[in-house]
Amino acid sequence: MKKQWWHNKVAYQIYPKSFYDSNGDGIGDLKGITGKLPYLKDLGVDIIWLSPVYVSPLADQGYDIADYKAIDPRFGTMEDMDELLEKAHSLGLYILMDLVINHCSDEHEWFRKACEDPDGRYGKFFYIRDADKEGGKLPTNWRSYFGGSVWEKLPGHDDKYYLHVFHKKQPDLNWENPDLREEVYRMINWWLDRGLDGFRLDAIINIKKAIPFRDYTPDRDDGLTSIDNMLADATGIGEFLSEMRNKTFRPHDSFTVGEVFNEKPEELPDFIGENGYFSSMYDFSENIFGRDLAGWHAYTDITPDDYKNCVFATQKKVSNVGFISNIIENHDEPRGVSRYLPEAGRHDTGKKLLATVYFLLHGLPWIYQGQELGMENIPVSSIDEVDDISSIDSYNVALDAGLSSSEAIKVVEKYSRDNARTPFQWDDSENAGFTTGMPWLRINPNYKKLNLKAQKDDPESVFNYYKKLIELRKNSKYSDTLVYGTFKPWLNDMHNIMAYLRETEAQTLLIAANFQESEQEISLPSRIREIVLNNIPDFIRSEKGMILQGWQAVVLELE
Ligand code: GLC
Ligand code: CA
Repeated sequence: MKKQWWHNKVAYQIYPKSFYDSNGDGIGDLKGITGKLPYLKDLGVDIIWLSPVYVSPLADQGYDIADYKAIDPRFGTMEDMDELLEKAHSLGLYILMDLVINHCSDEHEWFRKACEDPDGRYGKFFYIRDADKEGGKLPTNWRSYFGGSVWEKLPGHDDKYYLHVFHKKQPDLNWENPDLREEVYRMINWWLDRGLDGFRLDAIINIKKAIPFRDYTPDRDDGLTSIDNMLADATGIGEFLSEMRNKTFRPHDSFTVGEVFNEKPEELPDFIGENGYFSSMYDFSENIFGRDLAGWHAYTDITPDDYKNCVFATQKKVSNVGFISNIIENHDEPRGVSRYLPEAGRHDTGKKLLATVYFLLHGLPWIYQGQELGMENIPVSSIDEVDDISSIDSYNVALDAGLSSSEAIKVVEKYSRDNARTPFQWDDSENAGFTTGMPWLRINPNYKKLNLKAQKDDPESVFNYYKKLIELRKNSKYSDTLVYGTFKPWLNDMHNIMAYLRETEAQTLLIAANFQESEQEISLPSRIREIVLNNIPDFIRSEKGMILQGWQAVVLELE
């Protein structure tokens, strides 16, 4: 594999609205991030992705952009952004922004002009279709990701509809139009020329629609069909993605990571191989495990064995092709520790175990803000406390399916995007030290105990364990193996054991974890040379190899 500058790095996602508020308005901001860069430097991360901070009505928390070349005043100014970039670069940190180009906001100038003149230049930037005059039938039966039809009346035109696969305030951009594509590339280059180091590509798989548009078999009583059915039918996304890469990212040697769901297996080398469209893309296999078209209420819980199978399947198909991005959570998912650890393992030892097994996989490890403290899901008592639009839709879907409101609340509690969006817990003072004002979203009540201040000087804290993992991946003694070593499952059939080898010619490391309360004996492929990391104080050798205690995780160098 050809070595790239970012292979041995560690990446971190910031959700700006909830990271740190510098001016007491209850909303995290760019100055807040800049002030905390030394914290991130000390943690040991290198690449930082900022969720959107562009001008936006925040209908979908900034994933609805009204001006790609300006910062929303709630987050700061362009000067603040320049300062952030400068400070980051002086610390050796790299900054990525979120590239949301499947859609823009209905308040973007392009869309406003499209409404004024649907047949003009900007009308062609979107997917606008005439209404069916006689039958009143919508152009297609696709269901938007946030519920309801993807078609909405074009403001000012009773006889026309526009397409939005997400919220109605997020009209889809028409990538079939070269004029639109060139506008987008100009905008990307404008940012890269300012010194930005790259992008995370939002919802990118959606830019290619199956054309001509047609109906698919309905999959719920609403008569609509999941967008997935249309996407499975769409071919040729590579033409757009390679054009974009050639005209923007490649000439800048920038880092890109794609939010890619549902890629076809044969597409992997095209996406992240040596000549791929992106540097990397996320592994969502564990996130999508147990999904059901009926809605969140029909999802199946994931067990440790399922988790292992998902992750290992990805490792097997990807590790020879390129670098996958490994995560346990992001701003769209519940907290990883609340999801992938069985209830009995939701304590510091369990949190360290989960950190160990995902962080040392082949690929690029990512940490989502607060994950390094072991932040958890937040309890929900009423739907009125919920901010996330997809939670509100899923709540209603659950009620329609016959769940009681308290059952539906439990569903929301488990999967809500609010779980990861609650403010960062800096200390035990009011509002967890996030703001001196009224936080835009409620703080997790566990902040009194679970916060950075309480963990910083405690050598046994989850925070200091994450620091150790980061140091380990960067330690010259192990980094070649942890970055480039092959991946091989070990004891794959053992229940509640997740173990794998990372190997180079010069070195073999074993990562092994016991996802249960009671101990289990494991065999080792060869003798132990060194105990590199252990999430508990004890280490018990046995004739066959070693005894893993409940929730123990170890990293061993073998002979
Ligand atoms: C991505 C984002 C999510 C957003 C959606 C629409 O999935 O991560 O937060 O709602 O795209 O832009
Ligand atoms: Ca603020």
